[in-house]
Amino acid sequence: MSDTLKDKIAIVTGARRGIGKEIALKLAKEGAKVVVTDISQEDCQKVVEEIEKLESEGLALKLDVTNEEDIKNAVAKTKEKFGKIDILVNNAGICLLEDIKNLDLGVVEKILNINLKGLIELTYAILPEMIAKKYGKIINIASIAALVSWSKIHTYSASKGGVIGFTKGLAGDVAQYGINVNAIAPGAIETPMLDSILKELRMTREQVCQFTPKGRIGKPEDIANACRFLASDEADFITGQVLIVDGGYSIK
Ligand SMILES: NC(=O)c1ccc[n+]([C@@H]2O[C@H](COP(=O)([O-])OP(=O)(O)OC[C@H]3O[C@@H](n4cnc5c(N)ncnc54)[C@H](O)[C@@H]3O)[C@@H](O)[C@H]2O)c1
Repeated sequence: MSDTLKDKIAIVTGARRGIGKEIALKLAKEGAKVVVTDISQEDCQKVVEEIEKLESEGLALKLDVTNEEDIKNAVAKTKEKFGKIDILVNNAGICLLEDIKNLDLGVVEKILNINLKGLIELTYAILPEMIAKKYGKIINIASIAALVSWSKIHTYSASKGGVIGFTKGLAGDVAQYGINVNAIAPGAIETPMLDSILKELRMTREQVCQFTPKGRIGKPEDIANACRFLASDEADFITGQVLIVDGGYSIK
């Protein structure tokens, strides 16, 4: 265990599996105490058990980012157990494919509510605490889908473009309070989300690798490493930025 994030308190959303879980474990390995949140408290508890094996401390909470009560409860429970919130990783997200011949505003609403509105609501609930103690690191998980075109995910792309806009806009306003706000834009990362997208689009991993200069699919740890850096004081002079972690996919 390292002590880059010793005594820091972090909340990670969408952390029962995939990228969020890896981020939670990485922050814990760096010495942070991590509040593991997702739509299922039971799954989060399993991640907390892994954190405890690393001799760190965690707290599992049900937090659906579209549920106002869950948001209030998460802030209250975190402060009750750990006394403060230093790091917020807004990772929760969904990717629903849309067929241009069968458009449905219900799908649009679902994507925007979770990926953008939920992210903003949770951030607003935590900001007063960070502003009061003049310290905070907010890391928003966007996507290279905000920057390059992929088939059938235009609203998802819009939601992630919104996340990037929110990141830059907020960063300028809160820098004076010692708060850094940055985004990470992952490329294709091996998680349940990528698996279902590739299946629905009938794409193979080999096809994705062909367009990726590094020649491989990303691992959740690739994103967790970037997040660890942005959550640390080593990144103190970095704010309002988008760190693209995609093996070079977006430079082609
Ligand atoms: N995997 C990729 O290739 C990829 C690429 C770019 C960006 N991303 C982004 O990375 C983040 C993590 O995705 P992943 O690949 O690990 O996917 P994933 O589906 O494995 O994990 C997403 C997590 O978010 C949770 N979640 C969904 N709705 C929620 C809600 N309303 N409230 C709280 N949590 C909710 C899910 O339960 C799940 O645990 C997402 O924001 C995603 O858009 C992923």
